[in-house]
Amino acid sequence: MPQDIYDKISTMAKRRGFIYPSFEIYGGIAGFYDYGPLGAQLKLNIENLWRRFFVLKDNCVEISTPTITLFEVLKASGHVEEFTDLTVDCPKCKKSFKVEDIIGSTPVEEALKEKKIKCLGCGTILTNPHPVNLMFGTTIGIGDGRAAFLRPETAQGIFTNFHLLYRYNRERLPFGVVQIGKGYRNEISPRQGTLRQREFSMAEAEVFIDPKIKTHPKFPSIVNEPIKLFDNETEHNVTVGEAVSRHIINSQALAYYVHLTSSFLLTAGVDPKKFRFRKHASDELAHYATECWDAELYSERFGWIECVGIADRSAYDLNAHLQASGVDMYAVRKYDEPKVVKRRKITPKMDVLGPLFKQEAGKIKAILETMEAPAKGSLTVTVDKKTVKIPDNAYDVTEVEEKTPGEKFIPNVIEPSFGIDRVLYFLIEHNYKEVSKKDEEYTILSFPACIAPITAGVFPLTDDEKLVSVAEQINSDLRDAYIHTYFDTTGTIGRRYARMDEVGTPFCITIDHDTLSDHQVTIRDRDTTEQQRVPMKAIVGILKEKIACSAPVH
Ligand code: GLY
Repeated sequence: MPQDIYDKISTMAKRRGFIYPSFEIYGGIAGFYDYGPLGAQLKLNIENLWRRFFVLKDNCVEISTPTITLFEVLKASGHVEEFTDLTVDCPKCKKSFKVEDIIGSTPVEEALKEKKIKCLGCGTILTNPHPVNLMFGTTIGIGDGRAAFLRPETAQGIFTNFHLLYRYNRERLPFGVVQIGKGYRNEISPRQGTLRQREFSMAEAEVFIDPKIKTHPKFPSIVNEPIKLFDNETEHNVTVGEAVSRHIINSQALAYYVHLTSSFLLTAGVDPKKFRFRKHASDELAHYATECWDAELYSERFGWIECVGIADRSAYDLNAHLQASGVDMYAVRKYDEPKVVKRRKITPKMDVLGPLFKQEAGKIKAILETMEAPAKGSLTVTVDKKTVKIPDNAYDVTEVEEKTPGEKFIPNVIEPSFGIDRVLYFLIEHNYKEVSKKDEEYTILSFPACIAPITAGVFPLTDDEKLVSVAEQINSDLRDAYIHTYFDTTGTIGRRYARMDEVGTPFCITIDHDTLSDHQVTIRDRDTTEQQRVPMKAIVGILKEKIACSAPVH
């Protein structure tokens, strides 16, 4: 059977040290992959390029939180109830499948009626679709340990620190917080290789904005940039400004991050012809999202695949954590001058709340303290998604005059969320080229210099000691400057260039006999194969510039 590009890439990636199936010596298991030396460096370079866009350019701050997350956090966020896939189990061959993998976008009711839900293993007609939660559960500690999950997203670690981060940012909005790290999903039957992993790397930004001003300070600088958007199969080739004015994207803030995502992906090296943004239909939206755009990349085997989701999460998460924990998750829209306002302050009575609401009483008290008593009618509080009525004897109301700096509100969140492993796979697929030179077939990975795992091959033309010694000095100068090199003295120079082309190295530096007298070396460019003589001393600066220039800040 002829190999398709996915097979060829899998073979190449394993042979060249990019990606290995995990635990292969014990038979392996679907949904887990290791990165070899080149894959790990490629991943790090992608993450560092992402930091250049989201931390350096966009001014977000980066934090790091545990991958094991308390049950209470994911209960509050809705993941315990909602983070599910509709699944069917085959009573005959005992395999389980995601219903979507069997019927695609056909409505489930229709597929059931027409007996289209069949076991992908043995063909048995299946009739029992049921939701299955995708989180890996665990227990912290032994005995009466606390229930927890491996996190399904890094975002919750940011939301649960919002009150501290808001203070860190000196109580100003908008501000963004990013996290890069592992996420986990116990996929029912992952069948798309590295594109559907059970443990994967995410890079997420949670940008907190005022819902009354849903924009970004840099939005004016990108209004005229072109963007390609698919909404319900309609293609819109518009500017970012038009996307907002025509309500294709519903806020300037969301449109700004759609554009930033596009700049990042194009700089990293995705093929613009195999890249689009697609809007989620309302029945596709995650439980926390009011609007979501996926950056989809095209794979020859798998078609369009979501690699980034850019979601408007509204005030969903902060509101949920405020209700569940009772901790203040508000921001303040400051007045020009502090105002004195009359307020009907609530003083909760724990001796009444305690017996009535038991372990919920503390949370209810904390929430009541952030509220104002209604002038008439009953007082209700929403806690853990349940609305409870607070009896009149459970609190006192005092009319107070308070100096207040501004109006309280729960910030909204715009979230660009990147699947780093998917981006990595597509950077390989989109940059994989088969060429033949002098009747010899070989492959090139045309990675941009900013993500290539090796920036330069360093080659003494022959194994003459004098050449090797100069080449070693150049190699060590480059490595001291954090530039990744590959030092190679073996084989013809053509073969050494080809080896570098195959792993995506953009430059090769050759030290020849003339170098000993003119102190110049040759730099060869992978894509043009042009060779240029440059002073040996300039080489660090030249390569640094080439790495930086391949990541333009748009
Ligand atoms: N945080 C986005 C996601 O979980 O997909």
